[in-house]
Amino acid sequence: LSRKSFPKSFQFGTATSAYQVEGMASKDGRGPSIWDDFIRRPGVVANNANGEVAVDQYHRYKEDVDIMVKLNFDAYRFSISWSRIFPNGTGDVNEKGVAYYNRLIDYMVSKGITPYANLYHYDMPLALEKRYLGLLGRQVVNDYADYAEFCFKAFGDRVKNWMTFNEPRVTAALGYDNGIFAPGRCSKTYGNCTVGNSGTEPYIVAHNLILAHATAVQRYREKYQEKQKGKIGTLLDFVWYEPLTRGKADNYAAQRARDFHIGWFLHPIVYGEYPKTMQEIVGERLPKFTAEEKKMVKGSFDYIGINQYTAYYMYNPHQKQPKVFGYQQDWNAGFAFAKNGVPIGPKAHSYWLYNVPWGLYKCLMYVKERYGNPTVILSENGMDQPGNVTLPKGLHDTVRINYYKGYLAQLKKAADDGANVIGYFAWSLLDNFEWLSGYTSRFGIVYVDYSNLKRYPKMSAYWFKKLLDRRSKH
Ligand code: GCO
Repeated sequence: LSRKSFPKSFQFGTATSAYQVEGMASKDGRGPSIWDDFIRRPGVVANNANGEVAVDQYHRYKEDVDIMVKLNFDAYRFSISWSRIFPNGTGDVNEKGVAYYNRLIDYMVSKGITPYANLYHYDMPLALEKRYLGLLGRQVVNDYADYAEFCFKAFGDRVKNWMTFNEPRVTAALGYDNGIFAPGRCSKTYGNCTVGNSGTEPYIVAHNLILAHATAVQRYREKYQEKQKGKIGTLLDFVWYEPLTRGKADNYAAQRARDFHIGWFLHPIVYGEYPKTMQEIVGERLPKFTAEEKKMVKGSFDYIGINQYTAYYMYNPHQKQPKVFGYQQDWNAGFAFAKNGVPIGPKAHSYWLYNVPWGLYKCLMYVKERYGNPTVILSENGMDQPGNVTLPKGLHDTVRINYYKGYLAQLKKAADDGANVIGYFAWSLLDNFEWLSGYTSRFGIVYVDYSNLKRYPKMSAYWFKKLLDRRSKH
């Protein structure tokens, strides 16, 4: 495997998100997002950690970009924090925030690193959550498009690759069905949640996310794309769902899972409507697109970002479930991490992450076949190790090298078999704030010593450096 295994124009990068790496969360004029608020609930995040400092990319961006250059990467996927630009979600601009992204982008460009800017990584401005319940309010569609348009105007002379939302499914499901992510709404089907309604809110939020995405894309296409010559897409999280047995029922369970997970967002933007299975199962609770919206949503991307980490077996539940309405209940499918006692793959540190490279191949082929072979970018892929590994042991991550070797080989195989994939981004450049796990999970190819925020490339970083060396003959 080498750079030459992939097409010449293929881009390799790493990915991060604003709240996970920037720090300065309540400084230099940034307004709070729903995550700043959510993590104040005791016990939500491991060790009650937060992103106030994170890994301080706000100040150390030059060093971080220099590391990318040194490791032979071509591109960097970062995110812009909406509430750093508009502290109240709308209205007054925080010039210091704009200046920060200008510094970051200018420095990247000066060093030959291609910026991929994601406009939203779970961080709804708290002001909008308070004003109209954020993503539950239809006003968000226009407010988001205004924010996106501001970014196209401010940064689009240098940013030629845009992403509208990161993992809208995670937002809708974890934020509004089981409530484990901000804003933590869900009905009493789960734990001690009482504020939301899992049977309807995830679908309303998803619908608004799709409309906000499509509206932003429409504005970009109508007003900026021709002049700026950029591209725009979105970032979807994919898990590969493999039927546990060859039986019909398990097959259908796996297909339901794919439709509710992958198809929820991909189906509308490719075909202009939700997958048939969802329409049948969710019925009246599933919002509908008007004819005009359909037209706007269908085809609203130049490429699809695929965040892919893992795969699970799916089975049809043997017993009838009690009939409760909820996004996850609607799938009515069981998850299994093993088959006949054999795990689907070696487990990483996070409970949800198994190393299953063939799942990536199946995902890419599935998208190719079911969705007309759109242009795709593997926009996240990686694995984690426990947070408490210390130096120098923390640098010896051969297990991560094995993970990347396996996934990149399958990526190449999919490309050879016709999948239209144009780029690959490792998650993540640095160890960082891993949401509920705080700093107890390390996804970086570069180790961060949290006592002084010093960066140390791990073995996996040097593995990438060698892989991506344009001069090396393999
Ligand atoms: C995402 C992810 C990242 C995570 C990564 C590892 O949704 O894009 O949540 O922010 O850090 O997936 O879990």
